[in-house]
Amino acid sequence: MDLRNKNVLITAGPTIEKIDDVRFISNFSTGKMGYALAQAAEQEAANVFLISGPVSIPKPNNVKVFEVESAQEMFDQVHSLKEDMDLFIMSAAVSDYRPKNKHSGKIKKEYFGDNLTIELEKNPDILKSIGENKRDNQFLVGFALESQDPINNAKRKLINKNCDLIILNTANTKDSGFGGDYNTVKLLFKNGNIIDLPTMKKSDLAFEIIEHF
Ligand code: C5P
Repeated sequence: MDLRNKNVLITAGPTIEKIDDVRFISNFSTGKMGYALAQAAEQEAANVFLISGPVSIPKPNNVKVFEVESAQEMFDQVHSLKEDMDLFIMSAAVSDYRPKNKHSGKIKKEYFGDNLTIELEKNPDILKSIGENKRDNQFLVGFALESQDPINNAKRKLINKNCDLIILNTANTKDSGFGGDYNTVKLLFKNGNIIDLPTMKKSDLAFEIIEHF
């Protein structure tokens, strides 16, 4: 796909789900893959809208960045921009659950004693919500991080979330997934094609991936 003047929405980084005003649930996502994709799309002359959870890496140049914290905030921001988008790349590691009740202030251990139970409720699935309502001319890319039966689980995700492409990271494999500068992925397309890419620096991989849209 020629990305020139296309509107590209990218989610990146983790979300954080507050337990109280000083504690949260999150994950080890650094945002590197999503930020690399944002920079690559920008260099291909796309208009890039990057919706980012809290990360500590520099913002890409010439990209509109929307900073959010929770999955709900990311959901709301994605939905407020969706109509004008041509391409969605959902690379954020969205927390699947959030605390059902948020305590204001700081929870006191003296109050709860030796055991504190935190009840969690499901967050909205942002990728699925876009897949359910997208137009035929909107291209939807999701990520999958699977440790068991990766190809079949990723294929299921492709169908269930109505994606055009799933980028599969395999967990527990060297040079794949969270944190590092390198990544190893497979691209699974809606038409059944699978492309196995070699291990690459995330910045180079981003260009390779966008070639396949
Ligand atoms: O179902 P799973 O979390 O493994 O799917 C991963 C894909 O779904 C990623 O593209 C991720 O950004 C997206 N996702 C989302 N909202 C969620 C959970 C996952 O957009 N609540």
